[in-house]
Amino acid sequence: MKCRKCGGTAVLELRRHNAAFCAPDFMEFFRRQVGEAVRRHRMFTREESVLVAVSGGKDSLALWDVLLQEGYSTTGLYLDLGIFDYSKESRAKCEAFAAEHGVPLLIVSVEQEVGAGIPEVQAATRRPTCSACGLSKRYLMNKAALEHGFPVVATGHNLDDEAATLFGSILHWQTEPLARQSPALPSTHPKLVRRVKPLYRLSERETAAYAFLRRIDYIVEECPFAKGATSLMHKEILNRLEDVSPGAKHNFLFGFLEKGRPAFERLVEVALNECARCGQVTTGTLCGFCKLADQVKRAR
Ligand code: AMP
Ligand code: FES
Ligand code: ZN
Repeated sequence: MKCRKCGGTAVLELRRHNAAFCAPDFMEFFRRQVGEAVRRHRMFTREESVLVAVSGGKDSLALWDVLLQEGYSTTGLYLDLGIFDYSKESRAKCEAFAAEHGVPLLIVSVEQEVGAGIPEVQAATRRPTCSACGLSKRYLMNKAALEHGFPVVATGHNLDDEAATLFGSILHWQTEPLARQSPALPSTHPKLVRRVKPLYRLSERETAAYAFLRRIDYIVEECPFAKGATSLMHKEILNRLEDVSPGAKHNFLFGFLEKGRPAFERLVEVALNECARCGQVTTGTLCGFCKLADQVKRAR
């Protein structure tokens, strides 16, 4: 196997691109894909400070690494979910990365914000696994960005994550999530910061390879509440499709973004208000996060 760029020995074959790369040229390819995502969706400029949400996993640390290499001004944000050893270890990975690169890391504790860690929050609600956690993460990312004056939050969602989310939304024809699924969500309210996913063009296998080649020390274990079995199953199904037809995942997601999403955007119109209690954005009177905090209080 030869590198497409230099003809040297390739370390990684990318069947969907019909190409193979040596280590330096693969890393260059990876950075270019991130650059293309940032440009194409006007995610942020070099003048803006980007808040990078880091979980301690390979994707978000790889993203932070690329943005630092490309000279963007970044600050990390770690949300301590209070999930036993998993949270302790993932926090340590983020702290070590920040210290090694001499970059700032904000840490927000879910326990302080909600009154309990995610295990207790989940027990107090009848929501499906990870849904209370996802809601808390989105809320706290936005809140931290607003409080510290960041115009944009970047997350490490990759092509596999995005394709699996799309697959799940289509199975149930969930119009609102379909309208919202995008690599870049603009700010539609002064209290809502932009949310962007600069890795959406890169697969999980590619971010793992990048993290390995860059010697990034990340947490390998998954969260013990392991991602509702359904989203894992959707990933598996898409991987099987990808095996027999390289590029299937990419075509599925990119075809939707180009041809499907505009139709859903037209269907969904939401009026945004400010939460009566915390002032953050909601479609109702009280935001989902404040309702969650109430549920936790009642359960105690
Ligand atoms: P997940 O929802 O766990 O697949 O994570 C998707 C993205 O959300 C990650 O790539 C991170 O950017 C962000 N994220 C997940 N967990 C955390 C966390 N505990 N703290 C900060 N960001 C997180
Ligand atoms: Fe949220 Fe696992 S990361 S429940
Ligand atoms: Zn609220």
